Amino acid sequence: MATDSPCIVIGDEERGYDLDLFCIPKHYASDLERVYIPHGLILDRTERLARDIMRDMGGHHIVALCVLKGGYKFFADLLDYIKALNRNSDRSIPMTVDFIRLKSYCNDQSTGEIKVIGGDDLSTLTGKDIIDTGKTMKTLLQLLKQYNPKMVKVVSLLVKRTERSVGYRPDFIGFEVPDIFVVGYALDYNEYFRDLNHICVISEKGKEKYKE
Ligand code: HPA
Ligand code: MG
Repeated sequence: MATDSPCIVIGDEERGYDLDLFCIPKHYASDLERVYIPHGLILDRTERLARDIMRDMGGHHIVALCVLKGGYKFFADLLDYIKALNRNSDRSIPMTVDFIRLKSYCNDQSTGEIKVIGGDDLSTLTGKDIIDTGKTMKTLLQLLKQYNPKMVKVVSLLVKRTERSVGYRPDFIGFEVPDIFVVGYALDYNEYFRDLNHICVISEKGKEKYKE
């Protein structure tokens, strides 16, 4: 497991951008505080992750495993970039895909209980949206062991800097972010905000409106 996966580190002082500088769906206008990571930057970073992954995976066949629901945008975009590399370079990696669903959050808090649903061909590359404490990921890796994969590599778009971390660090990381709750780009708050392109910070009003 890589201990120092290079990534974009977003500092604690970073406030993101005013909502009015970007296009935001009208139905979320008062539910968000700031744009935190614009969609374009997410894609640009993902493009480079695809290249790094291709370099590291050599000629291995990959089973790309998407952790739903929060990982679906990142997974789809990452695979599109990997497919583009497969089309345009001398080396290419055969890929199959699979999906698994994990649920551990209610409102903006972890319930501590992890539900796993689905997945029939579990092995190699695991694409996750966000890793905060790392507890969910450790549980998933434990589960994957039963399938005796040759190799498991984990790629996460976001990793949170938090004192609650169990010390887990994925092999590939898009951004390291402070311990704040973010939504958008398939990341949700009680199932809302997945239909938002940018990664944003939710407002108190938004938290209240969509509370369970
Ligand atoms: N946003 C959405 N889902 C999450 C987060 C977050 O910041 N942390 C863990 N699950
Ligand atoms: Mg969620």
